[in-house]
Amino acid sequence: MRVLLTGGAGYIGSHTAAALAERGHEIVILDNFANAERDVPARLERLTGKKIPIIEADIRDVPAVVAALREHPVDAVIHFAALKAVGESEADPLLYYDMNIIGTIRLLQAMQEANVTRIVFSSSATVYGQPDSSPILEDFPTRVENIYGRTKLVMEDLIRDLARTKKLKAAANLRYFNPVGAHPSGQIGETPRGVPNNLMPYVSQVATGERPHLRVFGNDYDTPDGTGVRDYIHVVDLAEAHALALEHIVTNDVSITVNLGTGEGTSVLQLVTAFETATGRTIPIVIAPRRPGDVSSYYANPALAEQTFGWRAKLNVEDMCRDSWRWQASRAGINDI
Ligand code: NAD
Ligand code: WQD
Repeated sequence: MRVLLTGGAGYIGSHTAAALAERGHEIVILDNFANAERDVPARLERLTGKKIPIIEADIRDVPAVVAALREHPVDAVIHFAALKAVGESEADPLLYYDMNIIGTIRLLQAMQEANVTRIVFSSSATVYGQPDSSPILEDFPTRVENIYGRTKLVMEDLIRDLARTKKLKAAANLRYFNPVGAHPSGQIGETPRGVPNNLMPYVSQVATGERPHLRVFGNDYDTPDGTGVRDYIHVVDLAEAHALALEHIVTNDVSITVNLGTGEGTSVLQLVTAFETATGRTIPIVIAPRRPGDVSSYYANPALAEQTFGWRAKLNVEDMCRDSWRWQASRAGINDI
């Protein structure tokens, strides 16, 4: 297949590009580089051994997207391009409505104009808000707890509506849990700008010495060790899930909404210990107050993905820590893995 990846130079998009190329698919990347390093395309070409067309454009620019789709006729689009910081979304809701919701509408318009009728979409477990219980199944109620989460729900609904009204032949809403890790080659990984919001990049930067310690946001939750529990998923497993979901919906012309997680809950302290074991580095911690808006615990029931397109996560938390560290250490010029 030939596939256009919006946001394909970003963290999850670049790993998915690598996974698709490995399975013999052709990739086209469309990205405005708002949150991607300029050297990602060259790194991907080194990794895959393939020339990858890169279109520098904004998904809200319908003529540019139509032109890209006409120049590179594709079987499907995988739609990663979005803003993803919860705090920023609360500070600037209109920015998020514009980039995420209007951006998705413009992309869907361009696809319709270019007669591209299949899409895989990056949704998020954030659509479940504070769930009543875990493991979470896809038919659990969705809840809006912040502007970012609202945009994901609206984007899912837009895509579901177009599938229901047959404007799209096939669509996959993939609800990621907590993606972490990096490609084992060390060529691609996550490069947060400024102070990382998320746990794994923060821990990795403590390990390099860029930050003095990890603040553990709350140790009085109703969890086995009192710290927040999440379902971390290796980005390489997540990338493979995109390839399998894409192949499934394109072959069968169906639409699906599926969780992508491991099904395992890991606490903040368990993750820190796993990181120390996997890397031999010590992570100093300081217990801090709870972070506003945080959920105590959530993890996926990932059975539907396995039933539907034969995917299950293969990599464990130690693999995630080791690969995050390899990437972060090489960025920091540390050579000990
Ligand atoms: P990322 O920021 O690394 O990648 C997004 C890419 O989209 C970047 O390369 C950015 O330059 C590009 N982009 C942003 N706005 C654009 C626009 N208007 N036009 C063209 N390109 C644009 O983020 P990521 O972690 O790879 O996330 C990818 C998707 O997965 C996002 O939709 C995100 O909401 C979703 N998601 C991420 C996580 C996570 O924890 N990383 C979890 C659940 C869902
Ligand atoms: C994980 C755990 C923190 C940092 C966020 C978004 C979500 C999704 C993924 C896109 C929590 C704790 C963290 C730190 C800490 N994104 N923590 N110290 O909050 O589960 O999810 O990213 O869709 O929408 O909300 O991930 O990595 O920020 O936090 O103790 O410095 O680590 O309290 O328990 P989260 P996270």
